[in-house]
Amino acid sequence: MCGIVGYTGKKHDCVNILLDGLRRLEYRGYDSAGIAVLANGKIESIKSVGKVKKLQDKINESAASTTSIKTASTGIAHTRWATHGAPTEQNAHPHMDDNGDFALVHNGIIENYQALKENLIKKGHTFRSETDSEAIVHLISECYEGDLFQAVAAAIKKIEGTFGIAVISTKHPDTIITARRGSPIVIGIGNSETIVASDLAAIVSYTRRVIFLNDDDIALITPDNIDIRNIENVPVSRETAHIDWDTGAAEKSGFDHFMLKEIFEQPEAITNAIRGHLDDSSATSILSGLNLSPREMSMINRIVIAACGTSLHAGMMGEYFFEDFADLPTEIQQAAEFRYRNPILEPNSMVIAISQSGETADTLAAVREATQKGAIVASICNVVGSTITRETSRGIYLHAGPEIGVASTKAFTCQVAVMLMMALKFGRNRRLSRQEGLEIMNEIRKVPELVKKVLDTAPEIEKVAERYANASNFFFIGRGYLYPVALEGALKLKEISYIHAEGYHAAELKHGPIALLEENVPVMALANDIPGRDKMLGNIQECRARKSPVIATATEGDTEIKNIVNDVIYIPRSPHYTACIPTVTALQLFSYYVAKKRGCSIDQPRNLAKSVTVE
Ligand code: M6R
Repeated sequence: MCGIVGYTGKKHDCVNILLDGLRRLEYRGYDSAGIAVLANGKIESIKSVGKVKKLQDKINESAASTTSIKTASTGIAHTRWATHGAPTEQNAHPHMDDNGDFALVHNGIIENYQALKENLIKKGHTFRSETDSEAIVHLISECYEGDLFQAVAAAIKKIEGTFGIAVISTKHPDTIITARRGSPIVIGIGNSETIVASDLAAIVSYTRRVIFLNDDDIALITPDNIDIRNIENVPVSRETAHIDWDTGAAEKSGFDHFMLKEIFEQPEAITNAIRGHLDDSSATSILSGLNLSPREMSMINRIVIAACGTSLHAGMMGEYFFEDFADLPTEIQQAAEFRYRNPILEPNSMVIAISQSGETADTLAAVREATQKGAIVASICNVVGSTITRETSRGIYLHAGPEIGVASTKAFTCQVAVMLMMALKFGRNRRLSRQEGLEIMNEIRKVPELVKKVLDTAPEIEKVAERYANASNFFFIGRGYLYPVALEGALKLKEISYIHAEGYHAAELKHGPIALLEENVPVMALANDIPGRDKMLGNIQECRARKSPVIATATEGDTEIKNIVNDVIYIPRSPHYTACIPTVTALQLFSYYVAKKRGCSIDQPRNLAKSVTVE
């Protein structure tokens, strides 16, 4: 979940590139940060607790920065999301060996670090941090016999767990050695300069030519060369990819927060997600990334969707779509649960992994479990070249552009749009008529405009949000297609505003949670004019009878609802299967404005990280 960046070359100022990379990766973790550079034959390291800005101030103030650090041309840097050990300077990366010959940054978790540590201490190594990561740098120095490849290969053979590492050594100037297992590493190829990072965001401003490492690859990089070998020290060749990424997309562009920018990008993101996929002549969607012939598609008799967090909620929408459009039995499973419950999969089962980052550890593990059980495995991901996309080899990209805010917004609506298109494809392959296919396609095409209309009402949603910003507890209730939206609305509110919020099926409320309702516990009731609305009106009355203030989402033109709730957020009219998308946009805005009013750290909420690469 941490961010790693390394640079070797003389074209740019190394320290500035490292700091710039850390700022772009900060969303991955932000409790401490540090850099280490090779300067005058020594490793100089500076670390600080808190965000990258603090590290930058410390570097600017440090005496070394005026001399050796400024002239450095090779270095590594890290922004941390604590797993082992508190967020302190001692636990911040880079970590060094006893002699100061090696410095290492690490993303992942070393499961056998206690045993490694005890063994290394017996051999005379002194540990200065509580982290699991420090064991790796001592291990590399212990294994070092003059050859960096050999040392890293020997070290990682002893490691159990996940890692993406970058290491510099005083014994190898102008060189970074990097390796991965379970945590992403991408290498950017420049002109007489090379950048390594855990994420494309740190690279794309400098080069679009990149190489993604596979598990157990080790790469020795210099400004002009990249030498990749496997764990047995045998050279391997990895494809160079060209990344099409608008760097402006990774800037705030005048918005106060990335989250707000990403909420407002949704009409364009959804347009990109559906672009080129809807075909009028066949009245269906073209999803060549699935790599399934109509015959193969008709053989699939069950779909299992595995995902976490917001992607899990998008998957719940998919369950409705596949069953409604295609009569295809579908179930959604939390990815960790899927992995550990020994799922029953048959050759005609299709598993769909949904992940914005394509790196979520539990979702990746679900992909591996499904693959080895012989299922057809596909992915829906946003990050191009991410591990899940490479391990599934069939799937659909969201093309939503980089999502930097930790709270997922545009990825969710694009995931839902992609699943609508997938369900349409399966539906047309089975029971949907050409006419029905055309109608669904037309409704999908209208989604960006529906979202835009909700965005136009942002000032009104802000006013409503401000009235509820002091709440300590919140309920979100929905039915049918709006049930997953209620769950997603509650997740959004709790993660960025720290208000305790629960999403419930409206019918479940009276099976327990209603006991908590009182005048200071507001309820967000999703009462759009889609099937289930009448029952929802009854549920709203139940909440009002317990004195809970009620905010409703309702379909434009519904004046009746105003009489029974405290506040209404209007959503443009659309069929039930697309209404969920503009409704979730309204809830994203609501959460954003509540969090803003409360002065929260919206893009980087406490304790969270964008990409959850630990179980
Ligand atoms: O990258 P993924 O979609 O696999 O991430 C899954 C969750 O970690 C993610 O959706 C998380 O719940 C977000 N913070 C929600 O806003």
